[in-house]
Amino acid sequence: VPPRGGFPEDFLWGVAMSAKQAEGAATEDGRGLTVADLQDYNPQDTMKVKGDFTRDQILERLEHPEHYWFPKKQGIDFRHTYREDLALLAELGIKAFRTSICWSRVFPNGDDEKPSDEGIAFYEDLFSEVRRLGLEPIVTIYHDDMPVSLALRFNGFLSRHVVDAYVWYATLMMDRLRMLVRYWIPVNQINLTRVGLSSLGIVRDTVDNLEAAKFQAVHNKFVACARVAEAGRTICPDFKFGSMLADFYQAPATCCPADMVLSTEKNQMTMFFFSDVQFRGEYPGYALRYFEDNGIEIQVEPGDLEVIADNTMDYLALSYYNSNVVSADKNSMAIGDYTLNPYLKANPWGWTVNPDGLYDCLTHYWDRWRKPILIAENGFGQVEQLDANDTVEDDYRVDYIREHLKALRKAIAHGVKVFSYCAWSPLDMVSSGTSEMRKRYGFVYVDLDDMGGGTGERYKKKSFDWYRRVCASNGEEG
Ligand code: BG6
Repeated sequence: VPPRGGFPEDFLWGVAMSAKQAEGAATEDGRGLTVADLQDYNPQDTMKVKGDFTRDQILERLEHPEHYWFPKKQGIDFRHTYREDLALLAELGIKAFRTSICWSRVFPNGDDEKPSDEGIAFYEDLFSEVRRLGLEPIVTIYHDDMPVSLALRFNGFLSRHVVDAYVWYATLMMDRLRMLVRYWIPVNQINLTRVGLSSLGIVRDTVDNLEAAKFQAVHNKFVACARVAEAGRTICPDFKFGSMLADFYQAPATCCPADMVLSTEKNQMTMFFFSDVQFRGEYPGYALRYFEDNGIEIQVEPGDLEVIADNTMDYLALSYYNSNVVSADKNSMAIGDYTLNPYLKANPWGWTVNPDGLYDCLTHYWDRWRKPILIAENGFGQVEQLDANDTVEDDYRVDYIREHLKALRKAIAHGVKVFSYCAWSPLDMVSSGTSEMRKRYGFVYVDLDDMGGGTGERYKKKSFDWYRRVCASNGEEG
């Protein structure tokens, strides 16, 4: 019988962030620009999905940077503040720290002959410091920050040259960090392909059939991840590799059979497909049928299927924020086309809050794959201001995480193997989707605004001490 109410003794309480949202220092260490750097912030722009630029929009941003404000180029200056930030975060009593490596800080153009020594030295230093503080690093090798040069020259992962370059970069970093890092996530959220430029490096107006191009690039990513796992296990047999999903598990809006079938088919093609391939080592029948019925032909090179079959992933990394439903009347199979669940409340960005949904999807994933699970991201974004006491009374964040931890505890009591929970994010940082600062998730307030003004000072919010107690009591107090 699984333990009724507790987290395993060696449970890794942690926090998660990414290079593209935090590091800044976009041209230091010889670093090249990434497509994330070009995601400008403009308060007048109300577009829902940002950053999926055409070729001309990219070139215009490169030629006339003075016309734009690019928040991710500045981030929260973590490249310079990492020592103080990590010391502050260590006060939380966390055991794990997840962040990513920026490809173009190591290889400015992504495929240069020689890497940047300064870039590598930074990551060696960063992860040595993480270890020195007694934390287990969890490292994402690619967090949606394709080097611009690879996007413009090759359309990112659509090209096998970029697959080779990525494997080369990943192998170099796994080798250099082999004494420091055990847990690797080759790519962030492999199923989040909606913004094709950041997830896959595809410049959308340069391909004829965008959906087909995306699935081809996803295939290439499967090959890339498998080759990275193969190389990594040679460097160190103890390395563990994660298949990472953004949770899009979508229940039917009603019990109408058409809604139920759409829910099944949508969960297959926007969620299960990706980890089915990465865990089972083969393409599932429903995906092959979908490709044929939709005129999508995947170019499979000799050896691809073998390398995918022979190098499956070890654990599921999941980011869970919200949950939505699908209705056959209103929604299509496209990612991001869903209906809001009328039973749930949402934050100002329309992200619903559904802790029970976490229990629900975890039981499905565990039953499907029987792989240990890392909650790689979970957190609550809100507009916040410092109060007169230089803090933020973020009780809503405490409530949000508390309720999700209850759901997690229940899943564990039902036998689901979860080995870590990483809250997104330790410090406020630039939003991935909308490039705002105002969408704050941190336990620590960072004094920067949407247009980069502010001191950059860090202030603990109320949730900081609460999460410290959660970690200290192994999830009992909370
Ligand atoms: C996840 C990303 O999908 O969502 C993170 O991996 C991101 O990078 C998080 O920050 C929250 O999204 P946003 O747009 O609110 O920052």
